[in-house]
Parts: sequence; structure tokens; C-alpha cells
Amino acid sequence: MKKVINIGIVGFGTVGSGVVEVLSNNPSRISRKVGARVQIKKIVDKDITTPRGIKVDRSLLSTNINHILDDPEIDIVVELIGGEHEAREIILEAMKKGKHIVTANKALLAKAWDEIFEASKRYGCEVLFEASVGGGIPIIQCIRQGLASNRILSIFGIINGTCNYILSKMSSEKKDFCEVLKEAKESGFAEASPILDIEGIDTAHKLVVLGSLAFSKRISVEDVYTEGITYITKRDIVYAEEEFGYTIKLLGIAKIIDNKLELRVHPTMIPKDHLLASVSGEYNAIYIMGDLTDPLMFYGKGAGKFPATSAVTADIIYLAKKITNGVAGYIEKSYYEDIDIKPMDEFLGKYYIRFETLDQPGVLASISGILGEHNISISSVIQKERRSGDIVPIVMLTHEAKEANIRIALKKIDKLPIVKAKSLLIRVEELTK
Ligand code: HSE
Repeated sequence: MKKVINIGIVGFGTVGSGVVEVLSNNPSRISRKVGARVQIKKIVDKDITTPRGIKVDRSLLSTNINHILDDPEIDIVVELIGGEHEAREIILEAMKKGKHIVTANKALLAKAWDEIFEASKRYGCEVLFEASVGGGIPIIQCIRQGLASNRILSIFGIINGTCNYILSKMSSEKKDFCEVLKEAKESGFAEASPILDIEGIDTAHKLVVLGSLAFSKRISVEDVYTEGITYITKRDIVYAEEEFGYTIKLLGIAKIIDNKLELRVHPTMIPKDHLLASVSGEYNAIYIMGDLTDPLMFYGKGAGKFPATSAVTADIIYLAKKITNGVAGYIEKSYYEDIDIKPMDEFLGKYYIRFETLDQPGVLASISGILGEHNISISSVIQKERRSGDIVPIVMLTHEAKEANIRIALKKIDKLPIVKAKSLLIRVEELTK
């Protein structure tokens, strides 16, 4: 049995320093759990001079990745630099040298899943990635182990804290997107370049990871229909809440319908008394329907130094225990379910649509006529106050309709002379199945 498990950490940023802190502050508790000493052998970062607010033996620090890759005593490489290109090379090279991997890199996993797990199989190295989705929520282990006997039917995830923070604040303070985004950047709840977050791409990456595990299906980022939150306005949030009883959340949705898998990321209206609607601020939640469990909801901090550190160190401890007992090796699935991905055009759902039109006789008839021609049935209509000049917002909820039909109908409606702006569409989920 090995007496010491050696760790190489790549990336000494917020999470990297959290991992160093937790491993250094609790050595005996962690050793007891693992059955061997877990020791940091090297920490590599481009910047090893800026103080991190923790005590570190300077001899552990290096700017040279080969000090980890070429050290035969290092058992686990913890990749925390993010990004795709460099992280991919480090992970593949480390596995070639027989090292197990812990990573938080959802973008890389989403894009290079096959390559990484083929290498993992070839070299008998494990790749663990609990911190890639949901920060401190141990959702990966739950899907893998806790729900292993279930057929998972659907996943609805609030898995981007930045977007949830912005939408929650737009709703509670009745502010517009740009104003809240600016405040979020100033207070550290959004990054300086939040494009991946606000365009839904980060959520799509995380959905690829969750969906690949939950549905035993190879999913690529291109399979996920993705919309962000930048077009959501304060007005739509107010109409959704006050007129229809819905809250708007950016959801990552993976759902089996008619033996096909739907994969979508978009702002979604959900009933405001649903558990998911109560998840506000930077918090994350994953609502999963298993055929045995019925609905489950996992809630917690989806980002931040210590929640992410919790997930990374859990992976380190799990792997270290297996290495100590000589049973660490490739574990990722080698089979995939034969299930097709449903094209977005075939999606059937309810829609909220806002039109900006002239306030004159016949407008409603023209719009509803086109919707009717495309088999779209309206469940309620509200005409709001005039905005500027003669322009009025008309807000509609539809019954279940086909996405392809909605798109064609909206294109036609937007060309009507009485329509003065591009219509806005938000999908509605009742979350009953
Ligand atoms: N940018 C991510 C978020 C961080 O806002 O949730 C965690 O992946």
C-alpha cells in the first residue's frame, strides 16, 4: 500500500489556493480518510509571486509545468487553469505519464470529452470533475453513484450563478439587464468579460457534462440549442410575474421526450411557486427526475473559492483512497445509449410572445390569424398601456405549439406594417414532468 499520495496543482488562482489551504490545514483528517498521507509536491502557475494570503513553502512553487509532468512521484494532477488549449495538452500529457486527473474545466470536458476519456482508458488513468458543474453541489457523484439505478427522465438546471444573480436582481429591483450587469461586475458577481455566462455558453458546457453522464449519451456542444439572457427586459419579467405567475430563469434542460433527448439552454418561464423559482442570487440548483426517485432538487453555491474547493478536494480524496488501495483506473462508461437528439425545430412547448404594434383596429386579428394558420393556439392575450406614440405591447401565451411553426409565424408577423419591433419569445416550462 502506498504511504504517500503526491499531488501536483496546476493553477494557483482562487480555487488553487483554496485547495492548497484545505489540504495543508487538515492533513491528519484527510490522511485518516485516505489511509495515506496526501501531500502537495508542486504548485505550478505563471505567477508565483503575488501573495495568495496563505502560507506556502516556496520550494513547492514553480512556473514550469514539466516540474509536475516529469516527476514520476506525482500521482494526481489537479488542473485549475481553465481555458481549453493549454489545459487539454497538460491533461493529455499527464495521463500519458500515468497520472490521474482532477479538473474543474467544463469547457474542455464539453469539447474534448471523447479525446480525454479515450486517453483515460488507454493509460488507465481516472479523470474526475466534480467541480465542473454546480460548484459545491456534489451533483456528478450523485448522478454517477446515488442515482445509478434510476433511468433519469429530465434535468432542469440553474447552473450559472452569474445569470441567476442578474435575473434575480432584475426581478427583485425591477431593473434592466444592462444596469444589473454593470452592478454585478462592480460587485464581483460577474466577470469583466461575462460573455460565456450571459450568452448561455457556460450553461451549455455544464449541460453537456451532466447530460453525457445522466443519459449515457455522447453529447457535443453543438447538440445543445443555446440562448442567453441578454434580450430579457424588466418589462417581460414584470409581465411574467404579475400577469401570468411565472419567474424567468436561465435553465439548462436535458429531457427525454418520445424516446428522444432534448438539450436546450434558454431563458425559461417557470411557475413562481415552483422550488426552482425560489433559487435566487448566485445560487445554483439542479432539479432531476429519476424514474425511481421522482423529483429531487440539489441546491447550493455554484461558484466561489470554497464551494469549488470542496468539490476539487472531494475528488482528490476519492482518487487518493483508490490509489492507496491499488484500485485506481479508468472508470468512464465505455457504452452509450442509442438515443437520438431532438432537433429544436421539433420541440413542442408553450410560449410567451411579446409584440410591439400600432394601437389600431384589426391588429389582434392579423396576428392571431397568422398564428392560427400555423396551428398555434393562444391561451391568453394582454394588451398593455401605450408606450410611445401609438405603439402598444401585446403579450400572448400560447398552448403547446411546435417550435418550427412559431418561428415561421413570427417571421411573417414581424413583416406586418403594424408591427414595429422584432417580436420577443420566451419558452414556458410547467415543470410537471
Ligand atoms: N461563471 C460561472 C458562473 C462560474 O457564473 O456560474 C462557475 O462555473
